Amino acid sequence: MKALVYRGPGLKAIEDRPKPEIEAPGDAIVKIVKTTICGTDLHILKGDVATCAPGRILGHEGVGIVESVGAGVTAFRPGDHVLISCISSCGKCEYCRRGMYSHCTTGGWILGNIIDGTQAEYVRTPHADTSLYPIPEGADEEALVMLSDILPTGFECGVLNGKVAPGSTVAIVGAGPIGLAALLTAQFYSPAEIIMIDLDDNRLGLARQFGATQTINSMDGKAAETVKALTGGRGVDTAIEAVGVPATFLLCQDLVGPGGIIANVGVHGTKVDLHLDRLWSQNIAITTRLVDTVTTPMLLKTVQSKKLDPTRLITHRFKLDQILDAYDTFARAADTHALKVIIAA
Ligand SMILES: NC(=O)c1ccc[n+]([C@@H]2O[C@H](COP(=O)([O-])OP(=O)(O)OC[C@H]3O[C@@H](n4cnc5c(N)ncnc54)[C@H](O)[C@@H]3O)[C@@H](O)[C@H]2O)c1
Ligand SMILES: [Zn+2]
Ligand SMILES: [Zn+2]
Repeated sequence: MKALVYRGPGLKAIEDRPKPEIEAPGDAIVKIVKTTICGTDLHILKGDVATCAPGRILGHEGVGIVESVGAGVTAFRPGDHVLISCISSCGKCEYCRRGMYSHCTTGGWILGNIIDGTQAEYVRTPHADTSLYPIPEGADEEALVMLSDILPTGFECGVLNGKVAPGSTVAIVGAGPIGLAALLTAQFYSPAEIIMIDLDDNRLGLARQFGATQTINSMDGKAAETVKALTGGRGVDTAIEAVGVPATFLLCQDLVGPGGIIANVGVHGTKVDLHLDRLWSQNIAITTRLVDTVTTPMLLKTVQSKKLDPTRLITHRFKLDQILDAYDTFARAADTHALKVIIAA
């Protein structure tokens, strides 16, 4: 089968690989129908993710059709259309029982990281019963690719941890796919203001179309002042950090108001300054989270009932044999205006 393989920092290639086989009773082999590329795949290609070794097939998102199942799989049969979660969970270990699938002792984020991933014609998915989700009849499968990772991430790490509430004020720093996923799902709770902050005017324009009440280009270094001015001098109730660099975590500390929450979503590669000297008396909470994908079934229902339309995040479409072009388009988002690219296997 064809697969996109990580070959070491800066290197990737389309290779012919043997079709995966069942290795454990809980495994399923899924024929990929559609997959996509995540910002995290670009982090891997930069050499930022030490757990991902050269030779790994990348990809942790996608939808497909079950080809075969191990003897222990009871919830799925060959022919079933499934959504593949970016997080594999056994459903039985202590962390899984607490709903922290991201820390499953035999799962977590392993696909396209420590086991071969979804940017291929077939993938082996461990713990299939609890890591795949049935796709309802007639669903838009392309839309559901957005549910493997980015919508649960924006929702769980940003909106839920940030306790977005009716009438509250929200600032989202970073209008990439994750920030925009937080923007779409924050609207479940009807906050009064959602202020979107980025350096890219095209993405800020999309944010306005997606429901942001205000957008700020932070290039001039005055974003915190502007947010204060927009919130009667108070600052926001929820500041969602969806970039992952020190400057944006600092900005969140500057624009959160008393009693507010900084919900960090971004993957940080270096340490950041924490201004506890200013924050200690402001009743500020700071949260962090690796996405658990516990909200995937709920998000699926909101897509089915058309409360949420994730297809708005899809900008480009490719075939699997054009995946190198897809990576190039995705990596040059400022020029290509790419958000999520769909790759059809
Ligand atoms: N916590 C988790 O489980 C989890 C899961 C998936 C992704 N992530 C992380 O979420 C973050 C966002 O992901 P994405 O795919 O949307 O990334 P992305 O790179 O597509 O988007 C980041 C956005 O931030 C903007 N930006 C960069 N520097 C900025 C600055 N100084 N000020 C304001 N805006 C700035 C960019 O213009 C871009 O629009 C990444 O760090 C990613 O690794 C976390
Ligand atoms: Zn991802
Ligand atoms: Zn587990």
